Amino acid sequence: MILTSCSTSSFISAHRFAGLAALVLLCLVTTTAAAGPRKVIIDTDPGTDDAMAILLALNSPELDVKAITVVPGNVTAEQGLDNALRLVSLAGRCDIPVAHGAEHPLNQKLVTAEFWHGMNGLANIELPASKCRADTRFGPDLIIELVHKYPREITLVPIGPETNIALAVAKDPSIVPLVHDVVIMGGSISGGNVNAAAEANIYGDPEAAQIVFNAGWPITMVGLDVGNKTLVSRAHIAQLARTDGPENDFVVGVLNFLEDLSEKYGYAGVPMYDPLAVGTAINPALVTTQAMRVDVETRGQFTRGETVANRSNTVERNVPHEGRLWIEAVDPVMPNAHVAVEVKAEEFIQMFLNRLAGK
Ligand code: BDR
Ligand code: CA
Repeated sequence: MILTSCSTSSFISAHRFAGLAALVLLCLVTTTAAAGPRKVIIDTDPGTDDAMAILLALNSPELDVKAITVVPGNVTAEQGLDNALRLVSLAGRCDIPVAHGAEHPLNQKLVTAEFWHGMNGLANIELPASKCRADTRFGPDLIIELVHKYPREITLVPIGPETNIALAVAKDPSIVPLVHDVVIMGGSISGGNVNAAAEANIYGDPEAAQIVFNAGWPITMVGLDVGNKTLVSRAHIAQLARTDGPENDFVVGVLNFLEDLSEKYGYAGVPMYDPLAVGTAINPALVTTQAMRVDVETRGQFTRGETVANRSNTVERNVPHEGRLWIEAVDPVMPNAHVAVEVKAEEFIQMFLNRLAGK
């Protein structure tokens, strides 16, 4: 299988201004012949859309889920672990290690989102108690262990705040060149969903996100720009409701819960944020990306948690001259992420529905 996320448009725009060599290197790193299913670790704050993302991954032969690590975000760490265990149990996959992780963000209070995900984080649907047991390892340590066990094979798929991933890379920076790539659900280059600027996962731990974006590994950012275009409708839910099964029925219940919320708040459907990140790991061609330099604002009064993306990959050089600053040149900056800007939304939604149908 050829995995590539280098688009023609990203190539052209970056070629105009930035270091061509840098971009070619970025593209080469993410254009890799991978043998067999793609090995992934899902780091998650389950969460309604996290739950759907996990079930999509577990029903996709293109992916080999090596572990699920839990991070606080949508719900507390404790609730998230319980949810993750119920989900793998529902899918009959107690073979997959599910590990606890951080208890709180690196540098701020935990913000939870029961408001959007239900009091239990799973649309208030009471799944059967899990038959699976939690792995006793600490999530970031498990990530480190698996990356060393499968050098250059693991794709990290963080679909919650980046706390666990940041802790792993801070503890063992040697994992950076050993990770195949990172597919992040998070960020936006077109405004936030928490407030005007910030997307929820980045807002949940901006310092961690800045560490992850600057670690030096190949990143695909699957943010609001594409998630907001991937909208499940009542007709889509009716399509899935024509089949039955424990996972099928749970997802129908989750989608109905989310559709009600969307209607209440005037949105046009259910955005499939986290499932789309998993979908991108399954089939990178679902999204079109552009190479950009992305940094995370950690201090702004109105913009803390914003992903600040440099579309031209250039920055003006200012030099002191005659008591002011003169622009002397335009310097290239190295892109650090492939930012998803377009998505084959209906193709993705149909893939999602087909994978869950009858399960
Ligand atoms: C992200 O925030 C969470 O509420 C969702 O699970 C998703 O990961 C979308 O902004
Ligand atoms: Ca999530």
